[in-house]
Amino acid sequence: MVVVLAGGLSHERDVSLRSGRRVAEALRSVGVEVVLHDVDADLLAFLRETRPDVVWPVLHGAVGEDGSVRDILELVDLPYVGTGPRASRTVWNKPIAKAALMAAGIATPEYVTLPQSLFRDLGAQPVLDALVARLGLPLVVKPTQGGSALGVTRVERADSLPRAMVECFAYGETALVEKAIDGVELAVSVVEGPEGPEALPAVEIVAEGGYDYSARYVAGETEYFAPARLTEAQSATVAEVAVRAHKTLALRHLSRTDLILAADGTPYVLEVNVAPGMTETSLFPQAVAAAGEDVAALYRRIVETALP
Ligand code: DAL
Ligand code: MG
Repeated sequence: MVVVLAGGLSHERDVSLRSGRRVAEALRSVGVEVVLHDVDADLLAFLRETRPDVVWPVLHGAVGEDGSVRDILELVDLPYVGTGPRASRTVWNKPIAKAALMAAGIATPEYVTLPQSLFRDLGAQPVLDALVARLGLPLVVKPTQGGSALGVTRVERADSLPRAMVECFAYGETALVEKAIDGVELAVSVVEGPEGPEALPAVEIVAEGGYDYSARYVAGETEYFAPARLTEAQSATVAEVAVRAHKTLALRHLSRTDLILAADGTPYVLEVNVAPGMTETSLFPQAVAAAGEDVAALYRRIVETALP
């Protein structure tokens, strides 16, 4: 029996419930017994009582992707789908993940991190002036830890920065500010097969107003190309980068790397996800379908990979 963990108390609770339902339905459709559990403070007791064969944490956001639930799974010694707690913690912290990627020779947009306390200590304007002097414009402001584009703003003009910072600090204490890269927005999902991690076809995202929360989860708001409109060489480049990111960050079973393929051909990795969205509009299932694979059959294979 497989326990699918979803929900929880993060900002991405609703997305996780939608992802979890889809994963549970898919697994049931291919004959797997599934219990879908909305995570709460009784998780440990629930797992001890249920003793599933495998747990699949389809949890997005903090206390889900930050490694803490995976710590509990290690504690109760249950096999689970996905990356372990330590690597999850690294990936969840975007600046730390970026540093690890850069050390492996993977390009990621130039950036600075700004703790909220800096604004209190130095005053907002001097900090924002120094930021623009250092990185120029346009910029992307995002929480160092978060998902589904919550608290993320693309900033074209310096006078839009204060509002973007306020939006960002609503989700955490530290902002990650990146140089905006123009190019093709792509997501490359990776699944571990018998030969090791393999990239699924890249999915291209065309969101006119930006790929924000509603562009992600309201059907029809975003145009997707799956597979992406890339040359063979470009497809090979982004696949190689996603597999290298998966290996560099010590990820397990599945991941999704989000990147921009710049006009000069450089793939800039924006972030890597240990719990990619699995909703009806999400990128991972679109990539599976683009590979000509049955989503339910692939999910069953992922569960089987996680079995001891
Ligand atoms: N954080 C959302 C669920 C994603 O990366 O798909
Ligand atoms: Mg993410």
